[in-house]
Amino acid sequence: MPEFIHVSLAWPYANGDMHAGHFAGCYLPADIFARYQRMKGNTVLAVSGSDAHGTPITVEADRLGITPREVFEYYHHRFLETQKQMGISYDLFTHTDTENHTRVAQDIFLLLLERGHLHRETQRMLYSETEHRFLPDRYVEGKCPVCGFEPARGDQCDNCGSLLDALDLINPRSKIDGSIPVVRETEHFFLALDDFIGALETYLGSGKEHWRDNVLKVSQNKAKDLHARPITRDIEWGIPIPLEGWETKRMYVWFEAVMGYLTASIEWAKNTGQPDAWKQWWYNPDAKLYNFIGKDNIEFHTIIWPAELTGIDGLYANEGDGHLNLPYDVPANEFMNIEGKQFSKSRNWAVWMPDILERYAPDQIRYYIATTLPETRDSDWSWEGFVMRNNTELLAAWGNLVNRVLSFAAKHFDGTVPQPGDLRDFDREIIAKTEAGFQTVGALLDAVKLRDALAEAMALAREVNAYLDYAPWFKVVKQDKQAAATTIYTALRCIDNLKTLLAPFVPFSSQRVHEFLGYDGQLFGEQKIVTYEESERTHEALTIDNSQAIGHWAAGDLPVGQALRKPEPLFRKLEPEVIDEERARLGQPREVAGLTGKA
Ligand code: MF3
Ligand code: ZN
Repeated sequence: MPEFIHVSLAWPYANGDMHAGHFAGCYLPADIFARYQRMKGNTVLAVSGSDAHGTPITVEADRLGITPREVFEYYHHRFLETQKQMGISYDLFTHTDTENHTRVAQDIFLLLLERGHLHRETQRMLYSETEHRFLPDRYVEGKCPVCGFEPARGDQCDNCGSLLDALDLINPRSKIDGSIPVVRETEHFFLALDDFIGALETYLGSGKEHWRDNVLKVSQNKAKDLHARPITRDIEWGIPIPLEGWETKRMYVWFEAVMGYLTASIEWAKNTGQPDAWKQWWYNPDAKLYNFIGKDNIEFHTIIWPAELTGIDGLYANEGDGHLNLPYDVPANEFMNIEGKQFSKSRNWAVWMPDILERYAPDQIRYYIATTLPETRDSDWSWEGFVMRNNTELLAAWGNLVNRVLSFAAKHFDGTVPQPGDLRDFDREIIAKTEAGFQTVGALLDAVKLRDALAEAMALAREVNAYLDYAPWFKVVKQDKQAAATTIYTALRCIDNLKTLLAPFVPFSSQRVHEFLGYDGQLFGEQKIVTYEESERTHEALTIDNSQAIGHWAAGDLPVGQALRKPEPLFRKLEPEVIDEERARLGQPREVAGLTGKA
């Protein structure tokens, strides 16, 4: 029975390009997982979108002297391009400024209000007397009251990850002009998180053995101290509050962004002409929801979003639909440093995806990130590691294996899969080993241990290389062609299996190997950037058409006599100079073409 697997990825703020940290944190892991689940025959819905609202966008717009909409539309488009190039296989990557998201978010707001989970409260807030405006979230900086880090932002400390209230910052200053804000009163809506203490205790209290330790610990700690949180802001950019008299305020970006998991599912269903299909994941007790995120976002996904979902249970439901699902797993990753130092946008200590995609193939980047995923602790992007792993692993153990065997078959066996004759024990053994990979690698992928899964698949590639070191082929091809044929047949069978085992990680090169082996068809669906029309708005999105995909998580049965195609090198060797060239780019000023601004 196919399972319904929902894969969601944290919605990136559309205020700057995507960098390697994004891909290590959640985009690549989610894609590896989604591709694998689709190959297994499960019914996958993978969604995300640009996080268009809130002070992360408006602060950048102010800095550049352009509108928040200009900032978000510019980066949204770049996100589509970058993720398409990297092969992030979304069913839908949309954004939070659609009519659909606005409508559903407002329905959710009203339902929470009607059920008594939202109330008005007068709140003390920092106010700028020079700018005559409130300073929400990122408009204030100061010293973190928890760890002492400076400058901590008014919404969250980048150092210790604590979610902050700008009022608690020590020595707060306005981000706009550095002036010292005063405290003023303002009215806001609060979400009564304490209404959900029991529900969250139940949710986090059992059946979470498959969760990462860190995620469970952070969540259980936060669940001990639940109190009402303000979910509106004094800001003009965001989702309007659907009530009279609230025209100058908007929903807090985090309150509505997490809803995107649901709203994007609803949008996908509508776009594909089956408006109720989203319920197969959201109202199906057997479906599993996986939220791929970075560790700084844990609390929003394991406390606030489950509380919101509990509070709106039954939304858009018909008789018999049952209960809304809560996330089944939240496999949050730690951070990835760059050459031993923390990522920093302001110091440009970063590896920008659009930039490196001009110099390296997507699979080279995917492979390196996948071997370095910060699944259990912070990891490090090092250019030396990048070059080394490309040359000694991806290319030496996999690319060269494919190339050697296929070139040999082209030369000595007419470019066809040779008649194997009788397989010897060691032939049967190596084929069986690669076939067993579907179990071992698959189990690790199911457990979201993606780095280990890749290591396991690569270990099998090395075993096939070792097999070729002693099995008779090039030395004997003149005197014992049958022995060489048996070996090449066996190696081709193994390559056919490895191509599938590696496909979730390096899909582009697996597709090429699939074609070299003489097969037709696409392992995976076709990704497209499309435009959707709403009644008043139009928006671009990334989608995938899986209808022609033939990738299947199972051993291949390469037919004897199948005509092979001429192989080409799978991966480019990287020269050691690359290391210094790339290191020299770190920390240098970087201009993003097309968005210089007027400031
Ligand atoms: N925009 C947030 C960030 O970049 C992540 C939001 S995840 C969401 O940190 F699902 F809540 F949108
Ligand atoms: Zn801190």
